[in-house]
Amino acid sequence: MSKRRPIIAGNWKCHKTVPEAVELAAQVVQAVAPIQGVEVALCPPFIALNAVRRELSGSAVGLGAQNVYLEEGAYTGEIAPRMLTGLCDYVIIGHSERRHQFGEDDQLINAKLRTLLAHDLAPILCVGEKLEQNERGETEAVVAAQLRAGFKGVDGQRFLALGGIIAYEPVWAIGTGKACHGPTANRIIGRLRQLFGDLYGPEAAEALRIQYGGSVKPANVDEFMEQPEIDGALVGGASLQLEAFLPLVQRTAALRAATE
Ligand code: 13P
Repeated sequence: MSKRRPIIAGNWKCHKTVPEAVELAAQVVQAVAPIQGVEVALCPPFIALNAVRRELSGSAVGLGAQNVYLEEGAYTGEIAPRMLTGLCDYVIIGHSERRHQFGEDDQLINAKLRTLLAHDLAPILCVGEKLEQNERGETEAVVAAQLRAGFKGVDGQRFLALGGIIAYEPVWAIGTGKACHGPTANRIIGRLRQLFGDLYGPEAAEALRIQYGGSVKPANVDEFMEQPEIDGALVGGASLQLEAFLPLVQRTAALRAATE
């Protein structure tokens, strides 16, 4: 467990109607209220953001969007950064589902990162290798290239000042039940931190929070949260029910308390 404040974020992806989202958000708010030392954030679908925001108001639970487009204009179906400013704290960009199912490339993700900073929004930048890249031993090269491309021309201090986060999510571990080995995730995340340090200096690297994501569940959460480089989790499937999500927050808090 690191000195940085861990963050457990639930990425609800394309799940939950607005009433269902409100119900789960209310449950989370109540359940995590007494838990100290861990930040919690929820990332519902766009249409539930406002209703969930009302549910979270007065609580310490953060709110994130799952995607964003670059600007306002004639872009049917898209959401512009200005629409999210003041509405949510975080915006996930570069998720592997956006990269690989919706064809988003590093250049677009870099532009999204820059526009988020210009609109006072904290990015959660996701990076991760595909199964075949992992099997070819290319993991470090792939995530390093994604990180460098993502931060091209970006003010790292501004990223940190806004609370920006990186999430390492190996594509083969997402929604598969096959999580990465904890020490392996720790090593890759350590490498990402080193690269961030090469760009912005050692203090910036030390301050940066990097989450692990990919089949995190109550049965394996300790394996990740025990690692010194890992500052929380970005959780898909296990964030959709309180019974699975709450233990992730509780265990992270317990492990953190044990190291203090
Ligand atoms: P799962 O937890 O369902 O594997 O999803 C991880 C993820 O993609 C979070 O962004």
